[in-house]
Amino acid sequence: MSIGVIYKNLLDEDFKVLSALERVLLNREYAPIQLLEKNTGIHEEKLVLILRKLHGLKLVKKETIMGEKCFRLTFLGYDMLAIKALARANIIEAIGDKIGVGKESDIYIGLAPGGLQVAVKFLRIGRTSFRQTKRVRVWTRGKIADWYQQSKICAEREFKALQALHKVGALVPKPMGFNRHVVVIEFIDGLELYERPNLENPLGVLSKILETISIAYHKAQIVHGDLSEYNILVRREDETPFIIDWPQYVYRDDPSAPELLKRDVFYVVRFFNRVYRLSVNPQESLNSVLNWKETLNY
Ligand SMILES: Nc1ncnc2c1ncn2[C@@H]1O[C@H](COP(=O)(O)OP(=O)(O)O)[C@@H](O)[C@H]1O
Ligand SMILES: [Mg+2]
Repeated sequence: MSIGVIYKNLLDEDFKVLSALERVLLNREYAPIQLLEKNTGIHEEKLVLILRKLHGLKLVKKETIMGEKCFRLTFLGYDMLAIKALARANIIEAIGDKIGVGKESDIYIGLAPGGLQVAVKFLRIGRTSFRQTKRVRVWTRGKIADWYQQSKICAEREFKALQALHKVGALVPKPMGFNRHVVVIEFIDGLELYERPNLENPLGVLSKILETISIAYHKAQIVHGDLSEYNILVRREDETPFIIDWPQYVYRDDPSAPELLKRDVFYVVRFFNRVYRLSVNPQESLNSVLNWKETLNY
């Protein structure tokens, strides 16, 4: 069952229980029924029915601890709370199919009020190996509560980075809002660079990418740090390249920034040289990024 269908199945009382479970997560993983009864004010018999429904929809996990039936929220349960909050804030109106799976996220198409298409990114930090994420995250106990916490931190980081970048004219999808571990951004109808789209003007596309790297570095003071053909979307209608996937960014004054900037630039330039048969010098491109000045149009 898709996320959107599950969401439509939920009643206010279901959300009440999910919210109570979320609050419980702050200090313990599993909540016994008695505690939920107290926190929701819902009578035990009714609560049992609601929990059975939520369990059937895989929004909660069940465990018997010391003879007591206990429950905790799953990632999917947490997704429902985020969608509800985003809908209540008028950031999204509906949620549709999955359109992408990344290293650490699932992306769904959504609709914003007014019919605008948006990409809804559910961060899933900790789903994959720890190795890929060690640069920016501190791992402690590896419990589900920590996963939630890490995913939330990343969603907020990504939203704020996109906001700062979009404001200064970098080619990034416009951020629309975030809640918990979910970020809502403008949907880009395009192909990822790894799909090797046919480009009319590959040098022009590369220049725009380098321009966005420069704007990010000089005007927003940030370095992407994970740039590759998987994090660049080329819009179908006009070949505009958008750089996506920012949660691991570092500030320009971070000790690792020079190395990451060099890695990002060299990686992209070499990709274009190889795939689109250009012969752009990566070191010269890096120099031009470092010495970039905004051209003023009078
Ligand atoms: N704004 C968007 N518009 C359209 N598709 C997107 C958008 N953002 C992400 N996607 C799709 O989802 C995939 C994963 O997104 P990304 O932000 O790179 O997440 P991850 O951190 O998991 O790699 C992308 O490679 C792309 O195919
Ligand atoms: Mg990605």
